[in-house]
Amino acid sequence: MVNFKEEISKLIAEQVPDLSPEEIQSMIEVPQDTRMGDYAFPCFRLAKTLRKAPPLIAKGIAEGIRENAMFEKVEQVNAYVNMFISREEFVGDVVSAVLKEGEDYGKTDVGEGKTVIVEFSSPNIAKPFHIGHIRSTVIGNSISKIYKALGYNVIRINHLGDYGTQFGKMICAYRHWGKKEDVVREPIKTLLSYYTKFHEEVETHPELDDEAREIFAKLEHGEPEEVELWQWFRDESLKEFNRVYKMLGIDFDSYNGESFYSDKMPRFVKELEEKGLLEESQGAHVVNLEKYGLGVALITKSDGSTLYITRDIAAAVYRKETYDFYKNIYVVASQQNLHFQQWIQILELMGYEWARDCVHVPFGLVSLEDGTMSTRHGRVVFLEDVLNRAVEKTREIIEEKGVATENIDETAKQVGIGAVIFNELSNNRIKDYVFSWDKVLDFNGETGPYVQYTYARCASVLRNAGEEAAAKAADPAALKPQYLTSESAFQLVRLLYKLPEVIREAGDRYEPSIVTRHIVDIAQSFNRFYHDEHILVEDEEEKTAKLALVLAAKTAIRNGLALLGMEAPERM
Ligand code: ARG
Repeated sequence: MVNFKEEISKLIAEQVPDLSPEEIQSMIEVPQDTRMGDYAFPCFRLAKTLRKAPPLIAKGIAEGIRENAMFEKVEQVNAYVNMFISREEFVGDVVSAVLKEGEDYGKTDVGEGKTVIVEFSSPNIAKPFHIGHIRSTVIGNSISKIYKALGYNVIRINHLGDYGTQFGKMICAYRHWGKKEDVVREPIKTLLSYYTKFHEEVETHPELDDEAREIFAKLEHGEPEEVELWQWFRDESLKEFNRVYKMLGIDFDSYNGESFYSDKMPRFVKELEEKGLLEESQGAHVVNLEKYGLGVALITKSDGSTLYITRDIAAAVYRKETYDFYKNIYVVASQQNLHFQQWIQILELMGYEWARDCVHVPFGLVSLEDGTMSTRHGRVVFLEDVLNRAVEKTREIIEEKGVATENIDETAKQVGIGAVIFNELSNNRIKDYVFSWDKVLDFNGETGPYVQYTYARCASVLRNAGEEAAAKAADPAALKPQYLTSESAFQLVRLLYKLPEVIREAGDRYEPSIVTRHIVDIAQSFNRFYHDEHILVEDEEEKTAKLALVLAAKTAIRNGLALLGMEAPERM
C-alpha cells in the first residue's frame, strides 16, 4: 500500500529543501473536515526561514506538486496546502492491499526480533475471580494481541497471587473447619468461607494467628504436608480460573506467579544490602524512598518472610534474565500505582538500566448498576456468572429477533461473550465505568453486537452474490476502482487505510479502545455504504468492485475484532 504521507513528504521536500522529508511528514495533518483535503500542510513555520508570508509559500508549494498523478487536486487555502488524493488510485491501492493481505491486513513488523512480556489477569488463588478481574484479563489479552500484530515476540504471563501469609491462614482454617468434598465441589467459594471464618474466629482466639504464622513458615521451608495442601488449593483454583479463560478464549504462556519466586529472593535481599539500599526498622527491612516521594517499601518482615514487592523485584530480574525483554508490561489496576512506582524505582537504584522498560499499564474501576446483577453468591459478582448471563441474555435477544443461524448456541456464545469484551474495551482504560446490561447488549449502539452484526451482514451480501461472484471479488486483478469513488465508498476506504496506523497507535499508548472505536467507525461507514448503494447490480465490473469493498470491510472488521480477542460470526 502506498504510504501517502511519506510520498507527499518527499514531494514537498523537493519544494522546500530546508526541511527534511521526515520533518515534513511530522507536520502533515489529516483535516477533520474532508473538504479541506485528505492531507494538509501548514506553512506557518516556514515563514521565518523563507522570509515570505505563509500563504505565498503555500501557493508556491501547491503549484509545484499539483501535477503529480497521486492528486485529484491541490489547493492553497490561506497558509495551508490542501491535498486531495486521486480517489481512483487511492481506492484501488487500498482495497487490493486488503484483499491481498487478508488476515494479515493491519499487521506490521516494527517489533521484529524484540520480545515483549505482557503480564495480565493475575488473580489471587483461593479468592473469587470476580467482575473486577475482567479488566486486567481483557485489556491485557488485547494488548498482547496488538503487540503480536506489530511483529513482536509476545510472552503472556499470568502472575498468579499464589503466595503470602494468607495461605498460612487458609491452611489453618481448612484444618480446623474444612471438608475435602466441599473444596472439590466448589473450591473458591468454599476456601473463601474458611478464610472469612478464620477472621471471625481470630477475634476471640488470637492464638490462631500464631498458628497460621507457623504454618506459613513451614510452607516457606517446604514442609511436605503444608506444600501439598497449598498445591491442592492452587490446582483447584486454577481449574476454576481456566473455565473462565476458556470462555474468553484466553491462554497464557506462563502461570509463574508469586510462589515461583519464593526461593529466588535471598539473592535480592542480599544485593539490596550490598548496594546499601536496605535499612533496618524494628527488625524488618525497608528501602527508604522518601526522597522520591514514594514513602517506604517493606522488603522483609521482622520474621524474615518476604513481601509482594520483593517478589515483584525478583520476578522482573528473572524475566530480564530469561526473556531479555524489550518491554515488560504489567496490566494492573491503578490502585497499585504506588506499588509499581516503588519497585521500579528500587530496580533503578539497584542499577538495572532496563528498569525503565518495565511499564505499568493501569486502569480504572468497574462498578455495577444497582441491583441489576444479583448473584447466587451474595455480594461478590463472579465473572463466570456474568459471562454465562451474557450468553443467556443474548440467546433471548436473537431468538426474539428471528435467527439467521443454525447454531444458535455457538452464536449466542460468540455474541454474548463478545459483547462483554467489547464493552470493556470501549472506553479509555483509565476511566472508571459502570457495567450496564442495556448498554452492553444494545444491538444498535456502539457495541460488540452491532459490529458483529455488521460483519455478518457483509458475509450475507457475499453469500447472496454467489460463490463465483464472491471469488471474483476476492481477486485484486479483477478490481476496477472507478466504481468505488462515491462519497460513502471513499469514506469507508479511508477508514480501512487507517487501520494499520490505528493499531500502531493503540500499541504505543497501550490503549485497545483506539482499535475498538475504529472498528465501530468502519462498521458505521460500511452500513452507510450498504444503505446508499445498490451492491448486486447488473454490470459485472461494477458488482465485482462493490463486492470487493464488502470483502475488504469484512476482513478489516474481523482483523480488528481479533485484536480485541473477539470472534466474528458469519451468520447472526
Ligand atoms: N494478584 C494481584 C492482585 O490481584 C495482582 C498482581 C499484579 N502483578 C504484579 N506483578 N504485581 O491484586
